[in-house]
Amino acid sequence: MLSTVRDYIAWLYWPRRFFSMRGKQSWLKVPGWETLAFIDQPGELEAVRKQTGDMFLGGQGNTFLGMVLGSQSVFLLDHDRHKMARRILAPPLSHTLSRQFQPVIDDIIAEELPKLSVNRNINIGTWSRYLTMRILGKMVLGLERKEDIDRLFRKFEATTGLLANIVSYCSYFWEDRRLTPGGYAAYLVRQIDREIYSVIHPARESYRDNPEADLPPVLLALIRGQKEYQYDDGFIRDNLVSLLAAGYDTTGCALSWSLFWAGKETGIFARFCRAWRKGDEKPLKAFRDEVLRYCPPVEILPRRIDPEKVSEARSVIPSVSEAFNQAGEQGPMVCPFVHRAHHNPDIYQNPDRFDPQRFLQHSHRVQEYFPFGTGRRICVGMHYGKLIMDRVLGTLADRNMAMKIRKRRFQPVRRNVSIWPAFFLYGRAWKDKERKQGECQSPAG
Ligand code: HEM
Repeated sequence: MLSTVRDYIAWLYWPRRFFSMRGKQSWLKVPGWETLAFIDQPGELEAVRKQTGDMFLGGQGNTFLGMVLGSQSVFLLDHDRHKMARRILAPPLSHTLSRQFQPVIDDIIAEELPKLSVNRNINIGTWSRYLTMRILGKMVLGLERKEDIDRLFRKFEATTGLLANIVSYCSYFWEDRRLTPGGYAAYLVRQIDREIYSVIHPARESYRDNPEADLPPVLLALIRGQKEYQYDDGFIRDNLVSLLAAGYDTTGCALSWSLFWAGKETGIFARFCRAWRKGDEKPLKAFRDEVLRYCPPVEILPRRIDPEKVSEARSVIPSVSEAFNQAGEQGPMVCPFVHRAHHNPDIYQNPDRFDPQRFLQHSHRVQEYFPFGTGRRICVGMHYGKLIMDRVLGTLADRNMAMKIRKRRFQPVRRNVSIWPAFFLYGRAWKDKERKQGECQSPAG
């Protein structure tokens, strides 16, 4: 009983003990939700990757996101509807189109950076999420006015905050009941709906008047697709909300980790920034890749087993047979464990050392390194996620800035579905003094 309570609280707020590969736990029953089977061996990870969309259903594994994102979100769909949603969303989020958006990202970073470099410590998590919300608000909905972004940000903050940890992982709260967290979440969702529909309706009007109207590419693709695929406005709403919610939370988290490591490993960051200023982008990209290896914002990728294929699934992932015994007929929620895979000592030498160098020397297979998920469900916004990280780090490098942070201990905490450096990480950016020549010569250092 005591250990169940301890595990539950750890899972909800301080999940670090589940990350470890030493003496690892292979399953966990989360009361009110699911039995989780943790997959961390390359062979099994590869098998789950290949069968995701068939034996392992990504959409049904994400039902806990349904309350905010909506039942037609790309996150919650499987099979043909999922493929259709990806066909619509992927082209406007491509690598090429994301590069064209870079000047807008740079302008927003330039406007927000002074807030990070004031003469006092600020909450780095909030700064990172707000910056990302500004970028995505413009990119997804075409919003620019500060009042519009602020309103949207406040509503998303309330749905993804620390209370959401309990709501997400307890299906009892998913229903809209009076005076419960579920009822409050439903109220917030109605407010988000109002904001989103106030963008969709005029956008469709301008598209009707002029099919070449200057609309954000994702919004345009969703409005165009309506005629061909015959979906309702709810589909457009659910997918716009999904891009905003998924993008601002994960990218905000990845930025917070980047700033955490820049403040913790100041020597490495300074060396890599110097290489960047000399025109070599690789070291700073390796820094970004190592941040995403060490602390992937999303630590597990939940997959529901197709009810027809439970016994087949059991033979594909034998290492978690105990989870099957505990879970009953429908089987456990199968969870490729990104954090564990990224810290597997058989693959990464000294996995608990922050060492961007490893990404300058080796490339990694998809079952060894997958911060953006895998296979058919790989993150559709990953080019934007990487670009925003690169531009923030690059801007700090260009301006010769370093990070100071208040807490330097690695103590990850959960904020809804993502894992953050702390509940409240305070710090600031400051103008770095020129370092001694010897420290700066080579990024390989
Ligand atoms: C560094 C930033 C980001 C990280 C680390 C990240 C990570 C992830 C992960 C792990 C998944 C789940 C993949 C799976 O189940 O296998 C995912 C899915 C998704 N992400 Fe991201 N993401 C980031 C940025 C973004 C951005 C900027 C957007 C939107 C513009 C976005 C939109 C989505 C969507 C819509 C999905 C669902 C894809 C599907 O189920 O087919 N993400 N992301």
